[in-house]
Amino acid sequence: MYVCVCRAVKSRALEAAIDQGATSITALQKRLAVGTGCGQCLSFTEEILREKLTANDTGTRNVVPLRSKFYDAGPPGRHAATS
Ligand code: FES
Repeated sequence: MYVCVCRAVKSRALEAAIDQGATSITALQKRLAVGTGCGQCLSFTEEILREKLTANDTGTRNVVPLRSKFYDAGPPGRHAATS
């Protein structure tokens, strides 16, 4: 997905740059020129940067687990029989 239309920067390129050591908007601008046109993408770029750095720090990603307590409970209105 394109994050920066002006410079044709995709989210994967941002994530790769962050994985390779970019830790600031300035570093991303130097590497990819993201946000150096109209600037409309800077807030989203910052959001991606913050989330990726947090995920890298904790070793986790913000993903929905394949199975959750809601999945295990079954569809709404259907409950396990109690006897
Ligand atoms: S959309 Fe990124 S600088 Fe314009």
